[in-house]
Amino acid sequence: MIEVKNLQKTYEVKRRKSFFNSYKEKVEAVKDISLRIEAGQIVGLLGINGAGKTTTIKMLTTLIEPTSGEYYFDGKDALKNPVEIKKQINMIAGGERMIYWRLTAYENLWYYGQLYGIENTELKQRIDRLLKLVGLEDKANLPVETFSKGMKQRLQIARGMINNPKYIFLDEPTIGLDAIVTQELHEEIRSLAKNQEKGILLTSHYLSEVEELCDYIYLVNNGQLVMEGTKRDLTDFVFTKKQYAFSVKGMNESICSSLRSQLMILDAGAQVQLEGKSAVITSKVELSSFLAEFAIREGLIIEELHKLEPSLEQAVIKLSKSIEKEAKGIA
Ligand SMILES: Nc1ncnc2c1ncn2[C@@H]1O[C@H](COP(=O)(O)OP(=O)(O)O)[C@@H](O)[C@H]1O
Ligand SMILES: [Mg+2]
Repeated sequence: MIEVKNLQKTYEVKRRKSFFNSYKEKVEAVKDISLRIEAGQIVGLLGINGAGKTTTIKMLTTLIEPTSGEYYFDGKDALKNPVEIKKQINMIAGGERMIYWRLTAYENLWYYGQLYGIENTELKQRIDRLLKLVGLEDKANLPVETFSKGMKQRLQIARGMINNPKYIFLDEPTIGLDAIVTQELHEEIRSLAKNQEKGILLTSHYLSEVEELCDYIYLVNNGQLVMEGTKRDLTDFVFTKKQYAFSVKGMNESICSSLRSQLMILDAGAQVQLEGKSAVITSKVELSSFLAEFAIREGLIIEELHKLEPSLEQAVIKLSKSIEKEAKGIA
């Protein structure tokens, strides 16, 4: 198990006042973060840009030293043994970093394996196994520049596994990827935890990503933990109810009200509001197929049906407000 307690990182930045005059300013990138990652678990670090996610990951991967705090790796003091820790962790980058385009998939893995000092026969076996695992065994000897985005992403996973790490860190792994590649990557990540027993920490600013993947979630804002828990614990606060934009030809108030009455059976608390030509439906249950069936039953032609993604900013604001209220209530 990985466990960090009260991690803190302060940067000193030089700021220039004028040509001759500069001063030092302290930036508290991480103020107080405590978290745990267990084998076989996917842990999410969720926060808006600038929340301190990357700084936390850099401390966990021993790329930078915390200003203060504790870090235990399987019970051992990690801050005293960074070299030992490096052997047992790895990072999978999003996008196309850390992969050499001119080299083949095999050569890329060979290069990284050599960096870890893995013995040649063992490395050869490991590469074959990993390429098979990520479904690239037929592409082993092709240069990476001929690969699709999804194939490059799968090679990233193989690269991140080359030292057989116990824990894997992913910093915004799906940024800039299209929906299909994202879905593929999500499946790979899930399988690393469930089938290979890896402990995974993933940062993201997508609510839907952590909601879909993570067993346990830490919400960070301004370098501090705002809330933690399982998806269920956080649902009411963070993953606000599901919202759909639903529009049919000739949408009007009377269609909305029959929708309302039919929805009652599924979710008595559901709300339907007519906004322009669309009904905006808020509910705690999944409604995609219900709405499609509703249209068929009523002989309506669907013009629009999609799920609205709640924004993380809104969730953080809402949460801060509710915490404030609670604090006032106690005082
Ligand atoms: N090397 C650095 N020097 C100074 N400030 C930094 C440095 N790295 C990050 N910061 C600041 O720390 C805060 C947290 O950054 P970061 O950890 O990158 O957040 P996130 O990954 O959640 O977007 C930001 O305000 C950022 O500007
Ligand atoms: Mg970041």
